[in-house]
Amino acid sequence: MRTFLLIAELLLCLIISSTNGHLIAGTISGYFYNRIARLTYRLVWERGSGPCGQSCSAQDVGNYLSSLPPTLSSLKWRCTTGCQSANQDLHDVSYTLTAVSDDLTSGWEQGEQYFLYSGMEINNTYQVTLSGYEVLAPSLGLGKMVAAFDFGIRNDTGVPNASPISAVPATLGVQFGCTTVINIPAEDPDADSVRCRLATPEECGNACTNAPNITLNWETCSVSIPATTQDGYEPNRKYVITVMVEDYPDYTISVGDQVRSIRKPISKIPSQFTITTIVRQQACGDLGLRVDGVVPNPTNLFRVSYAGGSIQFNGAFYMQSPNINDTTFITSFFKGVNYNVLPDDENRTIGNFRDDVRRARYVWGSYDVRQYADTLLCVWGRNFEGVTTDRFCYTAILLDGDDCGGHTCQNGGKCVDLFRRWTCKCLHGFKPKDCSHKVTCADFPCKNNGTCVDTGTLYICACASGFTGLDCEMKIQTVGSKKSDFKVVPAVLGTIAGVATALVVTGCCWWFLFAAAKRPDSREKKRRVSPSDLHNVTHGSHQRHTQGDININPTQEDLNKNHTPDQDLHLTA
Ligand SMILES: *[C@@H]1O[C@H](CO)[C@@H](O)[C@H](O)[C@H]1NC(C)=O
Ligand SMILES: *[C@@H]1O[C@H](CO)[C@@H](O)[C@H](O)[C@H]1NC(C)=O
Ligand SMILES: *[C@@H]1O[C@H](CO)[C@@H](O)[C@H](O)[C@H]1NC(C)=O
Ligand SMILES: *[C@@H]1O[C@H](CO)[C@@H](O)[C@H](O)[C@H]1NC(C)=O
Ligand SMILES: *[C@@H]1O[C@H](CO)[C@@H](O)[C@H](O)[C@H]1NC(C)=O
Ligand SMILES: *[C@@H]1O[C@H](CO)[C@@H](O)[C@H](O)[C@H]1NC(C)=O
Repeated sequence: MRTFLLIAELLLCLIISSTNGHLIAGTISGYFYNRIARLTYRLVWERGSGPCGQSCSAQDVGNYLSSLPPTLSSLKWRCTTGCQSANQDLHDVSYTLTAVSDDLTSGWEQGEQYFLYSGMEINNTYQVTLSGYEVLAPSLGLGKMVAAFDFGIRNDTGVPNASPISAVPATLGVQFGCTTVINIPAEDPDADSVRCRLATPEECGNACTNAPNITLNWETCSVSIPATTQDGYEPNRKYVITVMVEDYPDYTISVGDQVRSIRKPISKIPSQFTITTIVRQQACGDLGLRVDGVVPNPTNLFRVSYAGGSIQFNGAFYMQSPNINDTTFITSFFKGVNYNVLPDDENRTIGNFRDDVRRARYVWGSYDVRQYADTLLCVWGRNFEGVTTDRFCYTAILLDGDDCGGHTCQNGGKCVDLFRRWTCKCLHGFKPKDCSHKVTCADFPCKNNGTCVDTGTLYICACASGFTGLDCEMKIQTVGSKKSDFKVVPAVLGTIAGVATALVVTGCCWWFLFAAAKRPDSREKKRRVSPSDLHNVTHGSHQRHTQGDININPTQEDLNKNHTPDQDLHLTA
């Protein structure tokens, strides 16, 4: 009888799981403003399995898809800790479609949605979970994403903490037989340091990383994927990678009634995505395919303020390729952002070879006033074989002006423009807000278990064995060992989880078997924002670019050229 029940439940599980759509990628972030919590999620589904359904086409882009297919109607974002009732429903997985690929074999649909939830309060912490979706076909199992938000008032800014933000690619192709480094889009609206670690089974269910032998650099949020047979990869196969993106303050602060040091993250968000191993004839190496931005500042990960009102937000991304045919942009944009791909400028020359250059120009005109604050806009290039480039992202700070104007940072620090406020990124030994204060041992500056000694004028770190650097941030390399990043072999975990699935069937299919994986201690991450760019950008109405004058790496001279409007990144009244 028991066996029968067990089998029946297992079957039920299989039926439930096989009727869910396949999720390719997802993330959620949390922000508290104007006495209300705003949660924003982005999801990508396999073609035919998402909210847009079987007949999804480019005509649906921009539509809010509220009538979900029956298979998704019970899937909810839930508040699993902190809300009045346990497992409080917050929102379904409906969204505004932002992009679609109708490729019959590898198509997808992608959307973005935010919602406001008045049941969350300042100074409280919450856990939000999406659980019970299928991940890969054939099924890897039922996936899960968990975020933890701390809406405590920070004593450095006087406002509730904001979680990091991320963006997710619809598809990422890595060349089989080669090692590829993928940079995960991640930013923090409070200018905290953002770090990434692999999600634990408690945080990802059966959608944990199953790509074998990857190396995650948790300071830079980059994943190195050795997609070779000997490292356990198969050609033309999909693998899931699920990381947690966390915000670490750069010095000791209080958040609500908690003290947070550089060793302790404040909140966490999931970033789940899928990679495909692509077989190509060419040797490993440069694809010749690149994505870049352009005027006024083409650097990856810059920040730009945008005042809103009747003003449109315009931007442009460029892709260069030895063969522009069949290349596509993979975008992770927000609802309201429209873009069109402009024809190939075939005579553009970049570097030593003649390139073809393709341009995507976009306009964010019909923004929603509740889209204020930081927004990550990302683009990847994809060649005709399906191999993708690194991401090119930047943060648009919506409905805000330049807050750095007039503020100076002491001791060599640089101002960073935040949403309706500013802060400084200080040189070593000094701390925000204006870098006039010295870091002391009370800030726990020594990383990796180093011991801090206050000498009166400065602090000194005595490092634990194996570490070095002013703050013990560097691991001492030993001959023959890989970099200081930690390496994971999650396939082993996957197998255990698989066995556990068969054993632990408790009405439904999620389980929490593993203690949180130990995280290595923190090291300082280099600031990825160049605050000197901000002035150029915020006064960007003067920074315009001539039609057809595509410049992947413009010099200051280029920037100063007489530009015509309606091009590239600028503010148009
Ligand atoms: C990881 O790579 C090693 C060799 O580099 C290989 O022996 C091992 O099987 C791989 N792990 C998995 C899970 O495939
Ligand atoms: C914030 O709180 C921390 C921890 O209590 C304290 O060390 C720090 O000095 C405070 N910072 C400010 C700006 O008040
Ligand atoms: C939140 O906590 C801080 C620090 O304990 C306190 O100063 C503040 O008044 C609290 N705010 C609210 C709205 O509870
Ligand atoms: C790219 O496409 C154009 C128009 O379809 C065609 O004329 C051209 O030969 C193609 N180039 C390559 C390198 O395939
Ligand atoms: C590229 O250059 C060729 C030869 O100079 C010219 O015929 C062609 O029109 C140019 N194409 C574009 C798009 O400017
Ligand atoms: C730091 O010390 C704690 C307690 O002794 C230990 O559990 C942890 O592994 C150490 N961390 C590092 C990075 O050495």
